[in-house]
Amino acid sequence: MNENTIRQAIEAIETADRIVILTGAGVSAESGIQTFRDAQSGMWANFDPMKLASQDGFAQDAGLVWRWYMERLKKLGEVQPNPAHLAIARLQKQKRDVTLITQNVDDLHERAGSQAVLHLHGTIARFHCNECGTAHLISAVEMDADQPPVCDLCLGKIRPSVVWFGEMLPQHELQQAWQAVRACDLMIVIGTSGVVYPVAELPFAGQRAGATILDVNPVATPISEMANISLQGKAGEVLPLLVPQ
Ligand code: OAD
Repeated sequence: MNENTIRQAIEAIETADRIVILTGAGVSAESGIQTFRDAQSGMWANFDPMKLASQDGFAQDAGLVWRWYMERLKKLGEVQPNPAHLAIARLQKQKRDVTLITQNVDDLHERAGSQAVLHLHGTIARFHCNECGTAHLISAVEMDADQPPVCDLCLGKIRPSVVWFGEMLPQHELQQAWQAVRACDLMIVIGTSGVVYPVAELPFAGQRAGATILDVNPVATPISEMANISLQGKAGEVLPLLVPQ
């Protein structure tokens, strides 16, 4: 990452009329939230995603799944948005047309001041019945329990409203994301390994539709390789350079 590439990125932001920002776990890494695929530190290096994030896993051991998500939810209450979340929120205030799409289930973008965040993989702090789909609120006691609470309408098990492997993405949000991607002239992709579909398809679709792709990631990914501008660095260090206070 040299000064020229940074200057090129700033100019791309300044001249863009419609911007889409797509974030992944890397944008929250410097807040202390584990990513999924980083070797050793990533969650999927130590946990089996099929046991924790699938219908089969929930059917086999709902308590394990519940406790795992509740631990992550509690951890979220202990961390803060980092300079990358804050810079993204600033950009949304400075430019008229900035759509923020995230794969993250945390609320750090909202807590940094971003609005209308499209959560394509759901939200860890919302809950619904796994059987009838009714939305539920969770008490502190239920959060600490060994097993998920039970739906008072159908006796199904309550689960966090996150997208598990093999499940559909929220269709309304996905549609809005596709629309924004097709219409944008700059897409800023931050902290995603770019291997989980359909979201990983979005930057490629954006590029095909004519958008400039700007990637921010400390390591090379399929997206940094196809990007028009690739900034190899940490989101919390790079984003404040692109959107100064
Ligand atoms: P991954 O864990 O797959 O990738 C995180 C990316 O962030 C990697 O490319 C890292 O190099 C990068 N990264 C690490 N630290 C960073 C930093 N400080 N600044 C910028 N980038 C950094 O996470 P996602 O791509 O978000 O889905 O994963 C996509 C989906 O896979 C998740 O939403 C989740 C997971 O399984 C579901 O649970 C459905």
